[in-house]
Amino acid sequence: MVKEKKLWGGRFAGRTAGSVEAFTASIDVDARLYRHDIAGSIAHARMLAKQRIVSSREARRIVRGLLAIQREIEEGKFRFSTADEDIHMNIERRLIAKIGKAGEKLHTARSRNDQVTLDMRLYLREEMGIIGEALGNLRQELARAARRHLKVIMPGYTHLQRAQPVLFSHHLLAYAEMFERDGERMADCLKRVNVLPLGAGALAGTTLPIDRSYVARLLGFPRISKNSIDAVSDRDFALEFLAASAIVFVHLSRLAEELVLWSSWEFGFIELPDGYCTGSSMMPQKKNPDVPELIRGKSGRIFGHLQALLTLMKGLPLAYNRDLQEDKRPVFDAVDTVKASLQMATEILPGIKVKTERMAAAALDGLMNATDLADYLVSRGVPFRSAHGVVGAIVRLCLDRGRRIEELSLKELKRFSPKIEKDVYSYLTPQAAVERRRSAGGTAPGNVRQRLREMGVL
Ligand code: ARG
Repeated sequence: MVKEKKLWGGRFAGRTAGSVEAFTASIDVDARLYRHDIAGSIAHARMLAKQRIVSSREARRIVRGLLAIQREIEEGKFRFSTADEDIHMNIERRLIAKIGKAGEKLHTARSRNDQVTLDMRLYLREEMGIIGEALGNLRQELARAARRHLKVIMPGYTHLQRAQPVLFSHHLLAYAEMFERDGERMADCLKRVNVLPLGAGALAGTTLPIDRSYVARLLGFPRISKNSIDAVSDRDFALEFLAASAIVFVHLSRLAEELVLWSSWEFGFIELPDGYCTGSSMMPQKKNPDVPELIRGKSGRIFGHLQALLTLMKGLPLAYNRDLQEDKRPVFDAVDTVKASLQMATEILPGIKVKTERMAAAALDGLMNATDLADYLVSRGVPFRSAHGVVGAIVRLCLDRGRRIEELSLKELKRFSPKIEKDVYSYLTPQAAVERRRSAGGTAPGNVRQRLREMGVL
């Protein structure tokens, strides 16, 4: 194979060491930007023609050549080469080979420095739209599961100790709220991703009469960057995306952890669908919750990616530095992992079997109606602190005797407070406890139904 001269090779006498080519090339990673690179180049070429920097005939040849290259790539016929470092130069080299002189004009008034960040912005803009939809789908599945189990009561926990009964649907919808905020965060980040950097050149702008607003219109960017140095230097849009992704994974991994816990023998609240579990090669009885475990596990990678890019950016002098090439792996892997994990979480939900009786029995146990008894006394004029003390003493008795509050006779209860009457028993059921928590955002069925209506599933 004859070694072609580098596209930037004019000032070099010596050849690049083979080991350096391998070390500096990013084509195996950034090839995935080919569509965005071509879209950006087409818009750039059309602008160059409009500004009479190239002729319209040349621009047409460039556009046709680029579209042909896109087909070659999509049909697997394109030969990527590490000698050409990255996707930008692979495509440019091929364009020149295909159309000659006109191809050599494409890179006029442009640098790979503004080109690469344009590609990343186009790429992220597209992927963030897909992630936003995936978050919406997961929210819908959570809402549907909540609707299916509207009547189911479970123990609510604080400190992983049984605390107060709650509707299972209310618990599920807590996650829907988290994923809604995640969607808002992505949408907000998108405003800052969606800014055109092209035209910054290498760092200082260009002497040629370009029209950046025209390129922005062609590519659907509502804004253009206002400082060429900033445009090629910063990656805060990518950092923000990784931060938003990391928070998605905080939420996903908590949901995953609860699925693991609930499907354990100890909890026994749910059974995960067979299709989303695996067995053990040694222990015949095992059914392992690998999917939620892996979602939980992948969160570590995503947090690492955020840390990696923060560290990469910290202390970099302005403007472009080659270090910035290392932004791609973390961003690409975060995109893939967020999408795959959201998909898995969405898929697993409809197949989950809820063991209603087991949850209901758990909701009865654990003296979780102690607060309700205190509230009962408050409604009969006892100050909350004294009520808390009275109920504390009743709880101690229950613990000593291994009984529930509602298993004590009225006579026994009255010994602690004469304010307690027969109607206390209907007050102490989990159903009543849940029904009464009607404060805005509380677990009462009316509130939950209202939320489901707002989410469009009721
Ligand atoms: N592959 C490079 C990157 O990802 C493109 C920009 C290279 N610019 C340069 N002056 N070497 O950052």
